[in-house]
Amino acid sequence: MSRFIAFVSGKGGVGRTSLTFNLGVAMSFFGEEIVMLDFDLVMANMDVITGLLNPEATLNDVLVRDKPIQECVYEVGQGVNVVPTGIHFETLKHINPNYISWNKIMNEIAEYGDIFLMDLPAGINSNIFEGLPQDTELIIVTNSTMPSVADSLKIRIFFKELNIKIVGFVLNMWYDDKFLLSPNEIESILEVPMVGLVPYDREMERSMALGKSVVEVNPSAPISNAIMQLAADLLGKPYNPIEPDKKGILKRLKKFVGLLE
Ligand SMILES: Nc1ncnc2c1ncn2[C@@H]1O[C@H](COP(=O)(O)OP(=O)(O)O)[C@@H](O)[C@H]1O
Ligand SMILES: [Mg+2]
Repeated sequence: MSRFIAFVSGKGGVGRTSLTFNLGVAMSFFGEEIVMLDFDLVMANMDVITGLLNPEATLNDVLVRDKPIQECVYEVGQGVNVVPTGIHFETLKHINPNYISWNKIMNEIAEYGDIFLMDLPAGINSNIFEGLPQDTELIIVTNSTMPSVADSLKIRIFFKELNIKIVGFVLNMWYDDKFLLSPNEIESILEVPMVGLVPYDREMERSMALGKSVVEVNPSAPISNAIMQLAADLLGKPYNPIEPDKKGILKRLKKFVGLLE
């Protein structure tokens, strides 16, 4: 049976899309077939983040021109598929603003994967949220600043009323700072569990500049281990963190000073 996991945030810029992409790649490492969908219809950028530039057919064409969704599925890695949205201001005007039913679309691409990761827009977008499949598992992505957590709380309240299961929140771009809210404080404000703690790490920007995921570019970085751990936890599978290759560095150093052949 397909699993639908949706990522939402109160604010933009908290790292929701990059986390969705990296988590998808991480889940594919566990042997899952992943489909990521860009539901951030107005500020869509999953195409940029996944390195899929100028895709020919997008979700916009499905919503506005009744293009079959099957023509919009792009494989960006082994077991990693993306349904991008792209930026078409003209077509946006024609999308039914009342409510979009994703059930039909999700049924049509069910055969493309086991797990469907949906990148929702930031803030409250009733027309997009109200049509989500009822068995969607929702994850709130937040930072530890007060405005970010305050807006996450609004999202949490909205989704509780929609009767969609809130799995918890991922605290992204985390670093220890006395002026920021701690994981415990955020848990008590949002009243849902923290399911992942992803540190702030410039490796995320470096991997993006390389057009890849950070879990591929630097698997032993703390940020990659945190994302792999989150993927494992969501899949109910075990994961042992990858240690940096100190032995390899030691060997090279010894070679350099002439201790090894
Ligand atoms: N854990 C992190 N550490 C450092 N930079 C991050 C992290 N997560 C995301 N970023 C960076 O933050 C920027 C905004 O991320 P993005 O995924 O576009 O946010 P959103 O989808 O919430 O608007 C990107 O340039 C991304 O590389
Ligand atoms: Mg985004």
